[in-house]
Amino acid sequence: MTRVLSTERLASVRIVQISDIHVGAGLFKPDLLTAAIEETNALEPDLVAVAGDLTMEGHRWEFEEAKEYLDRIGCPNIVYTMGNHDARAVGYRHFEDFFGLRERSITVEVPEGEAKVVALDSTKPDLDEGEVGREHYAWLDSEFRGWDRGPKILVVHHHILAVPGTGRDVNNLRDAGDVMAILRELEVDLVLSGHRHVPYVWSISGVRVVHSGTVSTMRVRGTMPPSYNVIDIDAESVKITLKQPGKGKEGEEALASFARTPVKTSEFYPEFERYVRYDELPFLRGRSEGPSNP
Ligand SMILES: [Fe+2]
Ligand SMILES: [Fe+2]
Repeated sequence: MTRVLSTERLASVRIVQISDIHVGAGLFKPDLLTAAIEETNALEPDLVAVAGDLTMEGHRWEFEEAKEYLDRIGCPNIVYTMGNHDARAVGYRHFEDFFGLRERSITVEVPEGEAKVVALDSTKPDLDEGEVGREHYAWLDSEFRGWDRGPKILVVHHHILAVPGTGRDVNNLRDAGDVMAILRELEVDLVLSGHRHVPYVWSISGVRVVHSGTVSTMRVRGTMPPSYNVIDIDAESVKITLKQPGKGKEGEEALASFARTPVKTSEFYPEFERYVRYDELPFLRGRSEGPSNP
């Protein structure tokens, strides 16, 4: 099947991807976050994606401080997702108070089109690993399937694919296989994740999975410095650049570059449904049909 890439008609889209801010006691560096926000405003992106771990321990004062910083971002299109650290200490209550819904789907006007951006909460209370969860699959499908006005972007904190240079991989997305299959099926263009504090990009079956590092802490791994990502999409290419806050051009490094049209040379034979099926959930069925049990 030939993919009709609606996004080919788009002139250019710029996305800033920030994650793992970790406001709180310890290794948080306010100067790095301030620099990243000033640079983000100078870059004038179409979208800012904050891919989770806004706080260290999920405490209210941490969310409050994070909000004070992030309110300085001038871009009108900004999405936030929960990270595992935000899910500590019942932190979702504070997340909702300061940042609104933990999950949402928005459309963002971009030159000659609209991007569909879905922010999904992959956290579980007090666990470091994540899960999209079967209850979300039908929602992803309803948001992305058939979208033909621009790029399809999923923002989710936990990594779907392993990130090199991060040590033992024990806290990824627990249902990563099914989620990858769904993203391929739905022809999602970009997945923006954080969590591992190491920036890295994979492109698999047309899905570009982009991980950002930690923007404003010294909770780094190996020799990787604090960083965030800038993603530039134009008619020909998708370019992902790592930027170290406050380091200017010297702190810039190309992470990956792809042709605008995703490379999809593989064929997949068994029916998708053989692997993943979207359950009809009893609590949703009940809503449309009334009580199913007398
Ligand atoms: Fe983190
Ligand atoms: Fe995390």
